[in-house]
Amino acid sequence: MKGVILAGGLATRLYPLTFATNKHLLPIFDKPMIYYPIQTLVNANINEILIVTSGPHAGHFISVLKNGKELGIKHLEYAYQENPKGGIADALSLAEDFADSGSIAVILGDNTTDADISETISTFKDGALVFLKKVKDPQRFGVPDFNPNDKNKIIEIVEKPTNPKSDYAVTGLYLFDSKVFDAIRSCRPSTRGEMEITDVNNHYIRQGTLKWAELDGWWHDAGTFESLFAANEYWSRKSFSL
Ligand code: DAU
Repeated sequence: MKGVILAGGLATRLYPLTFATNKHLLPIFDKPMIYYPIQTLVNANINEILIVTSGPHAGHFISVLKNGKELGIKHLEYAYQENPKGGIADALSLAEDFADSGSIAVILGDNTTDADISETISTFKDGALVFLKKVKDPQRFGVPDFNPNDKNKIIEIVEKPTNPKSDYAVTGLYLFDSKVFDAIRSCRPSTRGEMEITDVNNHYIRQGTLKWAELDGWWHDAGTFESLFAANEYWSRKSFSL
């Protein structure tokens, strides 16, 4: 399976930190943020990776990652999302040629985890799979509403709900079959003007082909000052084994 890391957007929530570079190149302890999702993919034996980025600092990725060899990547490609606020699904649409009709593992560039997703990847066949994690603040995320008679089934995912139906977050780690690009084409921009990944996942739910797995490990996004700080704290403590 190939891997896609979505590292576009303008990261206005992190101004002034992101005036001078792309959010995904900011440090999390001793590494640029994007090293973490790369490591998650490489640890799961994925060594063909596409990075989708956007905005005024897109060129900075080349200086940091070069051809990716030092990080264990065999083949590294870049794509440029013209509208940096087009949304996650818009960024993912740029991966169609790269995916070449195969399944893909997708990670949001600001998500860091120490979970091992290799087994879930090796048993994935078709449809889509979302990785979930229990959180204290589900309002910040896409939140699954489970079938009350069968928790294996998600009946809907709601993006940033005021009254979350569960205490799980849909993390920014997903597996998709090649039908994802048709699913994206069937979606329309949300009220905030973005092509939402949650709409793509809900499309798979309606087809009856969305599965989920719990992420077995620590997980955090890093798109706000609080979450960026928490990610720095976790990875520095882990590194020093505190
Ligand atoms: O972190 C998990 C959450 O990520 C999920 O629970 C939500 O369902 C999902 O919508 C997303 O929510 P966020 O509000 O955190 O998304 P954000 O706009 O911060 O974008 C996350 C990453 O996606 C960002 O680091 C880069 C990429 N992205 C985002 C946008 C809007 C792009 O590549 N292009 C874009 O246009």
